[in-house]
Amino acid sequence: VPSDKFNDLLSELRTLVDTRLDKIVPSEKMEPVLLHSAIRWSLFAGGKRIRPTLVILTGEVFGAHRELTLNIACAFELIHTYSLIHDDLPSMDNDDLRRGRATCHVKFGEAAAVLAGDALQSLAFATISQDESIPADTRLKIIAELSRAAGTPKGMVAGQCFDIESEQKQTSPEELDRIHRFKTGAIISAAIRSGAIMGKATESDLILLDSFGEKLGLLFQITDDILDATSSAADLGKTPGKDAKLRKATYITLYGLDSTRERAEKVYMQALQELDKLSRPAENLKFLTEFIIKRNS
Ligand code: IPE
Ligand code: IPE
Ligand code: MG
Ligand code: MG
Ligand code: MG
Repeated sequence: VPSDKFNDLLSELRTLVDTRLDKIVPSEKMEPVLLHSAIRWSLFAGGKRIRPTLVILTGEVFGAHRELTLNIACAFELIHTYSLIHDDLPSMDNDDLRRGRATCHVKFGEAAAVLAGDALQSLAFATISQDESIPADTRLKIIAELSRAAGTPKGMVAGQCFDIESEQKQTSPEELDRIHRFKTGAIISAAIRSGAIMGKATESDLILLDSFGEKLGLLFQITDDILDATSSAADLGKTPGKDAKLRKATYITLYGLDSTRERAEKVYMQALQELDKLSRPAENLKFLTEFIIKRNS
């Protein structure tokens, strides 16, 4: 069954990414021990590693070998983990469970959690800029992708800001789409683009991938909202029901659960259609898209 084979591939890539991350991140014994323990606590807690997987699989579609894209893949995970640590802070979503364990600030205190996020962010860009197996101009392109997706007005941090503001006001469907596109879609799109840039993707394939990334990012956050409303802490590794508790604008609050599920299905089909238009076969990206709509964690 292809889905068994794909699950094997996912776990193979997770191991590859985790092994490299372990080399990138300073040891727990390195001073300051508090900082490095906090970073490692959150990073090695069993995340799905979807963003690095996207970098690697998209790279492979366009002929870039895993070994060449691995550091870049890890850089995306470093940024993602930083965003989760800060997302969980008391002043943000105030969560105490993440990836099946205590959140960084619960375990190490708020100051250490802020600093762990800060360090992870810089470490991500250091990892890309120092990879001498990649031509310097390509490194620069990837840094531009990741930094734009993280910190500019259409990136993840801006999305997080709109998300926080949505707790205090009525949110329109357009505003909700913007929150999702920025806070989750931007990094996912940049991961896909970076994999494609590492391969030799043409401009027309990049345009199709942008459209695929937009759909996949939206699908990812829609399923995240569904899981928050329907799943258990044991499955999720985080506390369910938080969106309602914090009065967040989500697909569920705007459209209800049934209609949100229909929407997910529609966006899923659209994402697959974009992949079909590529100049290369992208079976594994299709499997990953399927994995995302079917995920229960
Ligand atoms: C959760 O991301 C936060 C969102 C952007 C929706 P993931 O669901 O990828 O979390 P991990 O990395 O597997 O823990
Ligand atoms: C967070 O969205 C997106 C990030 C940029 C981290 P959520 O707040 O919905 O993520 P979870 O549900 O806590 O993982
Ligand atoms: Mg949040
Ligand atoms: Mg959150
Ligand atoms: Mg959520």
